[in-house]
Amino acid sequence: MSFTKVCTLDDVWEGEMEAFTVNGQDILLVCAEGGDIKAFQGICPHQDIPLIEGKFDGKKVICRAHLWQFDACTGKGINPDDCALAAYPVKIDGEDILVETDGVEPLFAHT
Ligand code: FES
Repeated sequence: MSFTKVCTLDDVWEGEMEAFTVNGQDILLVCAEGGDIKAFQGICPHQDIPLIEGKFDGKKVICRAHLWQFDACTGKGINPDDCALAAYPVKIDGEDILVETDGVEPLFAHT
């Protein structure tokens, strides 16, 4: 297990999302309402669309292509509800946001 520094808390404000490449993996950091920082796969599980091109309303990440919606706290699909974003473990160290990428693979839906 090793965590990699991605950015600092100043880079992702509450209600924002940012995209990063960490150890070759596309990662979406979201800071949901309440200030919780989560890291999810950066590519939509439906097709090959970066989620950073979509919208984030503080609670849901919405893909721009076909408007699939994901819970920003859990990564679980809201609509449709039979999909999910892979979540990466996140650690906050002082001002730094670190993510563990080992053993996490992006999920893809087959619907
Ligand atoms: S590619 Fe994201 S909803 Fe279709």
